[in-house]
Amino acid sequence: MESKKNSSFTGSIGFVLAAAGSAVGVGNIWRFPYLAARDGGGLFIFVYLILVVTFGFTLLVTDIAIGRKTGKSAIDAFESVSKRWSIVGKLAFIIPAIIITYYTVIGGWILKYLADYVSGRCLQTAQDGYFTGFITSQISPIVYMLIFLALTAIVVYAGVDKGIERFSKVIMPGLIIMVIGIAVFSVTLSHTDANGVTRTGVQGLAIYLIPDFTGVTFTKFINILLDAMNQLFFSLSVSMGIMITYGSYVKKDVDLDKSIRQIEFFDTGVALLAGAMIIPAVYVFMGTEGMTSGPSLMFISLPKVFTAMGPIGSVIGGVFFVMVAFAALTSCVSIMETLVAGIMSKTGAGRKKVSLVIAVIAAAASVIICLGYNIFYFELTLPNGAVGQLLDVADYISNSFLMPIVTILTCIFVGWIVKPQWIIDEMQRNGEKFGRKNMYIVMVKYIAPVIMTVLFMQATGILNIILNMIINIMG
Ligand code: PHE
Repeated sequence: MESKKNSSFTGSIGFVLAAAGSAVGVGNIWRFPYLAARDGGGLFIFVYLILVVTFGFTLLVTDIAIGRKTGKSAIDAFESVSKRWSIVGKLAFIIPAIIITYYTVIGGWILKYLADYVSGRCLQTAQDGYFTGFITSQISPIVYMLIFLALTAIVVYAGVDKGIERFSKVIMPGLIIMVIGIAVFSVTLSHTDANGVTRTGVQGLAIYLIPDFTGVTFTKFINILLDAMNQLFFSLSVSMGIMITYGSYVKKDVDLDKSIRQIEFFDTGVALLAGAMIIPAVYVFMGTEGMTSGPSLMFISLPKVFTAMGPIGSVIGGVFFVMVAFAALTSCVSIMETLVAGIMSKTGAGRKKVSLVIAVIAAAASVIICLGYNIFYFELTLPNGAVGQLLDVADYISNSFLMPIVTILTCIFVGWIVKPQWIIDEMQRNGEKFGRKNMYIVMVKYIAPVIMTVLFMQATGILNIILNMIINIMG
């Protein structure tokens, strides 16, 4: 069962920063704040925090320990233990293969905005229709996507320690400094609008952090819970082979429990700070309505906020988009690395060759996603009720459909086939303390598979039918 490959992170810090680099991405900076704003501020945060230390922890431990124990990347890890369960590895491998096709497109959008801010075109980005005009144009989104993909490929091409680890060690501390800096700036803002109403960043922060129970019904609460759960496993990059792959690069003497706590802390910390950076600023300049703008937050509302800040806004906006670009790059690197590692082990080909081939295939697939906003435009209602284009469909298949399936199967595999002790042994390999051991056992055997089944039913629309039935019966 020992690893054939010799790539590895040089030590625990390299591993923690690379894994945090994967976890911290547009999910933290873009999605977390808008979900928190929409779902009752502190209420969402409270639910999310509880889920991180229970459910998120369980999934992170499972992936990373499977990786280190087998020394194999996702596609081979399950197979090396049981031929019958090799299907889980294959399914898990499909997820990053789908995600890369649209993550690079979003990465391209971020680079485009970054280029606009750096070249002083910040005012334009705040104009109505700017974002839609850009993504529906034919050439520009493809060019930026290709640049983003090339940057990702360079890091992966350079290897695990010389590429991924080295890159993360520079980027991640820089990212933290930027997010803290902008959050402090944002909280100290104050603005009086045309009606003479003054709003301050501190008030915005209060709205973000204090739980708001108005209008919270049973169904609404379930929705908040499901939002938090969906966000959680996208944010931690679990159940898609990525953390298994990174786990396989961790040296045997590293304390996994401690590293995993640090990764959780990093990912959650950045999400919370991103909220403290975005929500007060949006509140100050756009009021509470601005806060419910949803997915359009980053590319439509924020540029308006930066413009409203006056001259300093273009600097803050520039720093903001540098930060998001960094976060997105380290995430995309982990997605590509998982694909490269899998293909390397299946074909026996070398890293450089495989990286190039994957980059070319990903480029072709991502071009199709870009064209989903013009040539291949359609509006499809997804089973969970959302209406989307090609990018949303790819996101739906990978995150809402496949990921729950992989998680359920992984939990059954660990909880009932190889048994939790298999993981616990790996966690305590060097005699370390595995703090949440008993909780882990209960979570992986019972709670996680049940919760994931509910999430899967929500994504496929089955849950709504059941909830409506319950509400009807209760009158
Ligand atoms: N975890 C990343 C984020 O929060 C996203 C991601 C998804 C990264 C899938 C890798 C794989 O944005």
